[in-house]
Amino acid sequence: MNKQALIIDCDPGVDDAVALMLAFGAGAFDLLAITAVGGNVPVQKTARNARMLRQIAGREDVPVFMGADRPLRREPAGAGEFHGAEGLGDLTPFEPETPCAEGHAVDALIDLVMARPERSVAMAVLGPMTNLALALRREPGLAERLGPVAVMGGARSEGGNITASAEFNIWADPDAAAEVLASGCDVVLFGLDATHQVRATEDRIAAVEAIGTAMADTAASMMRFSQRIEREIVGWDAPPVHDPCPVAWLLQPALFELAPCRIRVETQSDLTRGHTAVEFRDAVAGGLPHRWATAADSDGVFALIAAAVGPGRTI
Ligand code: BDR
Ligand code: CA
Repeated sequence: MNKQALIIDCDPGVDDAVALMLAFGAGAFDLLAITAVGGNVPVQKTARNARMLRQIAGREDVPVFMGADRPLRREPAGAGEFHGAEGLGDLTPFEPETPCAEGHAVDALIDLVMARPERSVAMAVLGPMTNLALALRREPGLAERLGPVAVMGGARSEGGNITASAEFNIWADPDAAAEVLASGCDVVLFGLDATHQVRATEDRIAAVEAIGTAMADTAASMMRFSQRIEREIVGWDAPPVHDPCPVAWLLQPALFELAPCRIRVETQSDLTRGHTAVEFRDAVAGGLPHRWATAADSDGVFALIAAAVGPGRTI
């Protein structure tokens, strides 16, 4: 089987953790690297969390690189209230056996992609887009070289989750998002319009808990934590599971409906900072270089997660 080469840029994060378990268990990926960015918690913690998850999954073959510790122009802002102070909910932190790989995530990104055939490496970006924006500044040719860049981020019909207008990843570093969207990268954005359709209901969490592997237990613990926190903070019974969506799309594109569009990000206003303005009208936009996810098959996404964390790792 021809495996899809993939780099995952992330800020674990409870839903990043579920996405990583999905990717670690999916034999369809050639996982080149995990690059960590500051986001939900500071980058020292997101890099450690990625290494903890890698160890639980038995995937020490995948290097973890530490990346940007702050947004391009803004103060770092966390989302610890949704992920726990350490970033992985109820999971007790431990120092993983294998350290971060040598070098900065931005250099690793450039080296890994530029050394491979054009369009052969996909990215899943699950946190603020700082690392990719810095890499594009240093090597603009990266935009042409990269395959699809599947991003969790953005808010439109659903409204925002960090402010009324904005989704957290884009809000945290709107300048980076604006640069990536203007770079020529083939960006596919999985915003709240799609990810709010993918919810960890009680039955779905219980089904993952019943699997009985370490990967399944970890994924289930993340969703249990989110269930509790979303009930407390937002009043929702079934928390959205955002970050697995772009990874699931790379595995099985038919699980999502996408619409061609041109996306711009608000970087000036404080009120609407990080809002994603999505234009679907070609004549008005003058070209539709991006894609926006409008619908998700949530049963299909959870079936993929269950298959990836199960004993057979059947995807
Ligand atoms: C996104 O923000 C983060 O808190 C989550 O990990 C996810 O990537 C959802 O808005
Ligand atoms: Ca994330």
